[in-house]
Amino acid sequence: MTKNALDHRLAADLAQFKADGIYKTLNYLDSPQGPRAVMEGHGDVIILSSNNYLGLANHPTVVQAGHAALDRFGAGTASVRFICGTFTIHRELETAIARLAGTEVSLSFMSAWNANEAVPATLLGEQDLVLSDQLNHASIIDGVRLAKAITKCQTGVYKHCDLDDLRAKLAAASDRRIKLVITDGVFSMEGSIVDLPGTLQVCRDYGAILMIDDSHATGVLGATGRGTAEHFGMVGEVDIITSTLGKALGGAAGGFTAASAEVCDYLTQRARPQLFSNALPPTVAASSLASIQVLEAEPQRVAQLRDNARYFREGLIELGFKPLHGETPIIPVILGETSAAIRASELLLQAGVFVTGFGFPVVPQGEARVRCQISAAHTREHLDFALDAFKTVGRTLHLI
Ligand SMILES: Cc1ncc(COP(=O)(O)O)c(C=O)c1O
Repeated sequence: MTKNALDHRLAADLAQFKADGIYKTLNYLDSPQGPRAVMEGHGDVIILSSNNYLGLANHPTVVQAGHAALDRFGAGTASVRFICGTFTIHRELETAIARLAGTEVSLSFMSAWNANEAVPATLLGEQDLVLSDQLNHASIIDGVRLAKAITKCQTGVYKHCDLDDLRAKLAAASDRRIKLVITDGVFSMEGSIVDLPGTLQVCRDYGAILMIDDSHATGVLGATGRGTAEHFGMVGEVDIITSTLGKALGGAAGGFTAASAEVCDYLTQRARPQLFSNALPPTVAASSLASIQVLEAEPQRVAQLRDNARYFREGLIELGFKPLHGETPIIPVILGETSAAIRASELLLQAGVFVTGFGFPVVPQGEARVRCQISAAHTREHLDFALDAFKTVGRTLHLI
């Protein structure tokens, strides 16, 4: 293939990524995702870098549901929902999602990314405002940018979890018709939980609508895994919840918006990712539905997840590491410089533990980290094996 000007420019940039140590390589798994998996070139490794929080990605009921849907519905509808029909399994899934999220209805999307892009760009107009937490996920940031470009709505960012800043920005926007505030429920780089009661109170004080992205909270927070609202005893109080089906709920792909009937109906009518893109494959819809059913039948998985996360966090502290304080299964271990985080993750992989290192600019300078993610499917043996690897690598790199 002849290389063109674009190829040459990209090749130079890619070479620079490598020189700067920020080039990403993909690790290929040759087995289902689980607490352990077979990674090409590394053999059997403990997975501490997956959002398979409830261990459902390879659960027999979840896999079987996908098989059955493939037999019943085939591969897909071969076009978008409103043009060529929508499968009954999508309706069943959306009913189950609304039940789980505690909202009137829900609408599935091909991804949480799509859901986050759809909400502000579809629901807001020129007279409106959207305010986003500084550390929100990239899909929210891009969703806000898209909303500004499409609708000409006003946009703003408030300091991370800073309710005074949020209050000030809302107070300055009293002329706006609709004020939408968007925050992650759990911030994925920190593993921290939003102050939902405080944020909701500020929104109510200023007549703002609150949207939370529960991608790392669905199946994780609350006694029965219903998310951030359940964690705070506030199920039914959040205006709009978006989340993913690609993490705790089966881990394949897909996302949703759970909200009032009006919001979801309007998104069905007007959201561009709904109108111009296919629906979830029925296999994925069925597996996601089965995941919700397993979660509802076995809420002890959520307790197990919490217990595992606590065990691992305490184990790290005993070894002398300094994981960020928190109560979620996302456990970032701050190591300082980017090179330390990258080197630690390489050595951990050599020791049979897969955990990703994150450095600047993904996280602030000097706060490079490896981010451990715990699953309900990890046994004590898995976690002890991983802690042993951390001990060896920590000593080798003089981190502990
Ligand atoms: C907070 C948050 N929101 C949205 C997404 C996107 O999810 P999906 O893979 O369903 O697009 C992610 C995925 O990393 C996420 O962490």
